Amino acid sequence: MRLLFLADVYGLPGVEGVERALPGLRDELGLDLVVANAENAADGAGLTPKLAERLLQAGADCLTLGNHLWRRKEIGPYLVQAERVVRPANLLDRLPGRGLAFVPAADGREVAVINLLGSFTLEPAQSMFAVVDALVDQALARTPFVLVDVHAEATSEKVAMGRHLAGRASAVCGTHTHVQTSDAGVLPGGTAYITDAGMTGPHDSVIGAVTEISLRRFLLQQPQRLEPATGDVRLEGLLVELDDAGRATGAEALRRPA
Ligand code: FE2
Repeated sequence: MRLLFLADVYGLPGVEGVERALPGLRDELGLDLVVANAENAADGAGLTPKLAERLLQAGADCLTLGNHLWRRKEIGPYLVQAERVVRPANLLDRLPGRGLAFVPAADGREVAVINLLGSFTLEPAQSMFAVVDALVDQALARTPFVLVDVHAEATSEKVAMGRHLAGRASAVCGTHTHVQTSDAGVLPGGTAYITDAGMTGPHDSVIGAVTEISLRRFLLQQPQRLEPATGDVRLEGLLVELDDAGRATGAEALRRPA
């Protein structure tokens, strides 16, 4: 099974980049399933139902989220019924949405997708390490194909989660920091891993936002309303090859102009 995880889709330039490049990429790479982190799709913070549907229409089979999840109030009701949109599992149980979804791949086999939120500078209701084992057990009871999006600020948290799930998850993809790391590979036991899959969006920017506005934040130390940049749009992510037992036989970072 060939699976593509697309890193954080940032703003309209990111969404449009997916629409331009993903259909061709699906054919070219023979992809069976595409999962995209969409938590920055709405102007860099959050996701609207409309943008979610555009990404699903463009060829993403499942969307994951992160710390900006609640920025758009329309997302709550949408998450209740959107079976292919996953939000971090380690939030308060009473909040809408699911932290684990089973999504059919092109050949009909199901892939479990789990979304987690790290603790460093972010604010999950509980540690992702406290909830992940039960979720992975639940996923493995139904399918050997398990992909985990670890949305976290700290490299150490993401590496630790990769090591914790090595041999159990098919793939552990780090997200949130938007700069692709150079450690894509397969961990012992057959778990594809990358600390940060990068960003699907405008790279002539400060992690997606217009450089001048972002710089003002730092130079003047005043809050600024960030806007998505437009230049050098790229698709970034992790391309994973899995055997029938759900073990990764290959994993490489993907970077394409869009
Ligand atoms: Fe994030």
